[in-house]
Amino acid sequence: EWKMKDVLEQEIKAIQEKVRLEDHVICALSGGVDSTVAATLVHKAIGDRLHCVFVDNGLLRYKERERVMETFERDLHLPVTCVDAAEQFLSQLKGVVDPEMKRKIIGKEFINIFDAFAHDLEQKFGKKPAYLVQGTLYPDVIESCPPPGTQSTHSHTIKSHHNVGGLPKNMKLKLIEPLKLLFKDEVRALGSILNVPEAFLKRHPFPGPGLAVRVLGDISQGNALDILRQVDEIFVQSIKDAGIYDKIWQAFAVFLPIRSVGVQGDQRTHSHVVALRAVTSQDGMTADWYNFEHNFLDDVARKICNSVRGVNRVVQDITSKPPSTIEWE
Ligand code: XMP
Repeated sequence: EWKMKDVLEQEIKAIQEKVRLEDHVICALSGGVDSTVAATLVHKAIGDRLHCVFVDNGLLRYKERERVMETFERDLHLPVTCVDAAEQFLSQLKGVVDPEMKRKIIGKEFINIFDAFAHDLEQKFGKKPAYLVQGTLYPDVIESCPPPGTQSTHSHTIKSHHNVGGLPKNMKLKLIEPLKLLFKDEVRALGSILNVPEAFLKRHPFPGPGLAVRVLGDISQGNALDILRQVDEIFVQSIKDAGIYDKIWQAFAVFLPIRSVGVQGDQRTHSHVVALRAVTSQDGMTADWYNFEHNFLDDVARKICNSVRGVNRVVQDITSKPPSTIEWE
């Protein structure tokens, strides 16, 4: 802890020396640990010359927007603008089936919104923002530039594509990357000193493209997103209630683009199938499927079919990585 207090002081001093009094700084908050800790640190250094933006892309989990905005505003007092862009994203994604195409569309749309945010600030202050805060960690830096002679794997490509350099290159923003020399556990320790709530620091990772890669195929089929949110919330909340959330790297539900026959009440149904995925992992590069207790799974499956309209079958993913990836798309 004393070590992280030193790191914090040094970083704050470095930022104060670097950013001139007339400079404005922008930061995109994802709702994840890294961008939140980075923004909180920079805010401590330069106050409200920092301007954060959080984008509701319509692909967030159940009550996600309300939950993260509450942490940003009430717990951390971050100056943050919430942009409701759900319609924009969902209409662009309508009918798109290919996972990489989904990612491209989402990445592009995100940049458009970020550009508009920077432009608004320029109008307001009469000058362009000078710096961009990014929550880049030490492992991201290494993974994005693998040492010569080593091979870049699929996961490297995904991570470098989405986490590093995923923002406008033509904006000529200088970077502030206060976490660049830290590992994940050090970022958590730093976040703790900065009063980021403990529960927030322990949240499972969530992919940038959000629920778009957890509805297999077209995200606009039926009310897939809505069903997925309800199922995911029941599953994750049950995991928290059972006291096993911290043992798991990621746990989530996947909406499958198929229907199966069931019998509910005295009626035959032809409804949706959802899959549950939970894995343990050190770094996301490899993973083992998590073995729940029989009773836990039984309760969760019952709860889902009883309370989520349109679902009559729950299956569990029992593959590790490799050969599967953690996400289904
Ligand atoms: P996979 O599915 O490749 O995922 O085993 C490894 C880790 O990366 C996350 N992931 C993503 N994160 N944008 C992200 O920001 C993406 O497009 C993306 N795809 C996968 C995944 O949740 C897991 O933690």
